[in-house]
Amino acid sequence: MKIIQTIVELQTVLTSKKNAGKSIGFVPTMGALHQGHISLVKKMIAENDVSVVSIFVNPTQFNDPNDLLQYPRTLEADCALLQQAGNPIVFAPSVEEIYPEPDTRQFGFGRLETVMEGQFRPGHFNGVAQVVSRLFDIVQPDRAYFGEKDFQQVAIIRALVKQLHLPVTIIACPIVREADGLALSSRNARLTAGQRKSAVAISRTLFESREKKARLPVAALKQEVIEQINAVPELHVEYFDLVDRETLQSVNHWSDAAQVVGCIAVYDGEVRLIDNLGY
Ligand code: PAF
Repeated sequence: MKIIQTIVELQTVLTSKKNAGKSIGFVPTMGALHQGHISLVKKMIAENDVSVVSIFVNPTQFNDPNDLLQYPRTLEADCALLQQAGNPIVFAPSVEEIYPEPDTRQFGFGRLETVMEGQFRPGHFNGVAQVVSRLFDIVQPDRAYFGEKDFQQVAIIRALVKQLHLPVTIIACPIVREADGLALSSRNARLTAGQRKSAVAISRTLFESREKKARLPVAALKQEVIEQINAVPELHVEYFDLVDRETLQSVNHWSDAAQVVGCIAVYDGEVRLIDNLGY
């Protein structure tokens, strides 16, 4: 499989397709691909004439240098999966190619970025906005696909596209889960066998708690979820919040929002996992 590493080469390929009136689909990734990514890739291939997947571990979105160091890098296996999934164009640039100079741009997303991931990973969404705006600029996609596991990221990217008036349609795709319910994540590869066993309690507790919505007020349900997960070996909840699907702000009562989403971040040993569920 051919891997394109430079912007010039990618743009040479894409410009001729664009000029021929072809639509461009795009799935940005940081590699370590799993079936969640592949579901995005298959949808992209079905909906566009030309499909591009980027594989780039973006240093500017890691607030924890150790997390960046530990992030799995599996280019060969990624390419094999992509080939099977329908053989999109793969763009795997170096850090220097994406950032010939340090990116000093500061984006602002107001209250969307002060909560949850924004609160616990300062600078993370600014780094995501830097790389996604840069990649959109390079690829000029008509449609871009993102997984709803990163629920807050999707909201940030929609806001970014609005702010910069970018002519791209953002398509959010549902979380893909293991048979036991664990949300697929590149980080799952880092779990020990014991931690993997514990991890199932995250989604199980969320699904079970949703059944209690009619009898428990918001605050009591939140507390119960946190206590149940913290009682499992290796698990430690960083946050669990019930938020308005649109604004991402906490709700105090179930009636505060048309749609409520439960968003959670949990340390399983050293590995930080996130998940979310509509309530
Ligand atoms: O979701 C991810 O994998 C990353 O945040 C993204 C969107 C590829 C930007 O680096």
